[in-house]
Amino acid sequence: MSGRADLYRSVVLEHGKRPRNVGALGGATHAAEGDNPLCGDALRVEVERRGDVLVALAFAGEGCILATASASLMTEILRGARVAEARRLAVAMEAFCAEGRGDADALGPLAGFADVYRHPARVACALLPWRTLARALDD
Ligand code: FES
Repeated sequence: MSGRADLYRSVVLEHGKRPRNVGALGGATHAAEGDNPLCGDALRVEVERRGDVLVALAFAGEGCILATASASLMTEILRGARVAEARRLAVAMEAFCAEGRGDADALGPLAGFADVYRHPARVACALLPWRTLARALDD
């Protein structure tokens, strides 16, 4: 999937430079703060959940371009998703980014994080939003 891999890498880069859903949600029902102990960066993730559906997500805080891109894509992809789907994707991203395991084709643009597992210092960056989201959903 090299053509697609390049495309998804460029999508990740673009989200890092021009992140979506930055700020606070007026109607947040769940929220959590997370930090990356390796660098001290921290993000807050907010979710508005109606029943079983995540109707809106937003994030704010300090993070490198990889953490920012990951948060931006996460908040876009999960808008309108069910909670179970969000949890499933968070687990899939953990395996994909930390260990290089999983079906890249099933991850869509998140496959742009395919090389992260080769750079241990970046794993915590890419997963910061997803780990924070998981805590927000447990909130
Ligand atoms: Fe801090 Fe990536 S260097 S989150």
